Amino acid sequence: MYEIIQMLHSYLAYVALAILFFAVANAIMGLVGNKMFTMTKDLRLSLFALIICHIQLVVGLILYFVSVNGFSAIQEFGMGGLTSAARLLAVEHPFVNILAIILITVGWSRHKKFLDGNKKFKSIAIFYGLGLILILSRIPWGQWFN
Ligand code: HEM
Repeated sequence: MYEIIQMLHSYLAYVALAILFFAVANAIMGLVGNKMFTMTKDLRLSLFALIICHIQLVVGLILYFVSVNGFSAIQEFGMGGLTSAARLLAVEHPFVNILAIILITVGWSRHKKFLDGNKKFKSIAIFYGLGLILILSRIPWGQWFN
């Protein structure tokens, strides 16, 4: 069970980061180029990024409770007893990623309120962009590529 969830979370991370990157780059190009916000490309790309992030959130939450590096690490060692590497996995990565996915969801909800394409692109660019930066700041890179 743990191995399957961990592998899923690990592979889904590539997809989530790639789609998020494309959604942010697309929104910035749409904003800078003063383009129309299309239902076919722009909406689909932003929605796909949102869905993948939400799936990753659910998988991450399950992983948090089945992994020895998640909640059980806090139970065993207490907050103060965690090394910085253990704190990254058990506290910083989950907390910051939940925050990032909240920001991405806010960006998606906000974009729907606007009719103007520029405002839609701006909402996606800012909120998805901030989300992406937060996610990148707390990836356990060493463990991922090991
Ligand atoms: C888009 C959001 C997220 C991305 C891109 C992401 C990515 C990753 C990556 C690349 C790893 C290392 C995987 C490996 O060692 O092969 C990891 C580990 C982990 N993630 Fe996430 N994650 C996200 C969200 C979350 C959330 C929301 C939670 C929990 C609430 C979470 C909990 C964990 C835990 C507990 C581990 C350590 C697993 C272990 O070593 O047993 N992740 N994550």
